[in-house]
Amino acid sequence: MYGKPHWCVFSVVALATAFGGGVAPASAETVEERVQVCAGCHGENGKPVDRTIPTIWGQQQGYLYIQLRDFKRGDRQNDVMQPLASMMTRDDMLAIAEYFSKKPWPDLGQPAASKEVANRALRANSSVGCTGCHLDQFQGDGTVPRLAGMSREYLTKTIADFRSRARGNNPGMSDLMLATAPDDLAALTEYLAGR
Ligand code: HEC
Ligand code: HEC
Repeated sequence: MYGKPHWCVFSVVALATAFGGGVAPASAETVEERVQVCAGCHGENGKPVDRTIPTIWGQQQGYLYIQLRDFKRGDRQNDVMQPLASMMTRDDMLAIAEYFSKKPWPDLGQPAASKEVANRALRANSSVGCTGCHLDQFQGDGTVPRLAGMSREYLTKTIADFRSRARGNNPGMSDLMLATAPDDLAALTEYLAGR
């Protein structure tokens, strides 16, 4: 289905419309069609149009699915993402998560942290153990997100949201962020952005 050229899909839709409509079910829409709207913010080439918007190209599949599910449930609140996710079925979310996880992670071209900042970040990591979950090089796996190369602005925002519990979909992450010193989190953010 996904391999068919575009005109195939259009002709089916055109036929359905021409012959009274209601023939093609909503699920006839391909993943490629469903994700077109995402590019408006998450970027045509995987680089988000605004630095407070997260990178979803190349992100872990399980993590992407959990976020869409949490937006739909309202456990994670966002005025844009909640209405979008509320229109998705579980199968839509799984397919969309798979689609984006297979894209290459974009290089946002952020500068590497200075040696001093990197050392502080690595010290904080050894005491908190971020890489115990986010794994080697902060690449993530399954439902644990990749953090390496994420925009500094988004990391800053979402860490602040965990701390204020404005992002309430994972209370364990909120507890952990509240238990970590703000200066250490700032160093980790700069370090991660530049990876
Ligand atoms: C109008 C802008 C906009 C559009 C369109 C949009 N998003 Fe988002 N998306 C955002 C913003 C902003 C956030 C960050 C929300 C926050 O700060 O908690 C986000 C967050 C996400 C996240 C969580 C990522 C993470 O690292 O936690 C996923 C997954 C996601 N969007 C998927 C999608 C998909 C799939 C589509 C298309 C169906 C889409 N988005 C369309 C703006 C948008
Ligand atoms: C016990 C395991 C664990 C530890 C330790 C941990 N994390 Fe996480 N982290 C997670 C999980 C799981 C998520 C996904 C939460 C969700 O589903 O919303 C996450 C999410 C995040 C996010 C959100 C990413 C995004 O795209 O929105 C950031 C940022 C983050 N962690 C930073 C850190 C930092 C920095 C540390 C160390 C100070 C750390 N984490 C330690 C498990 C962990």
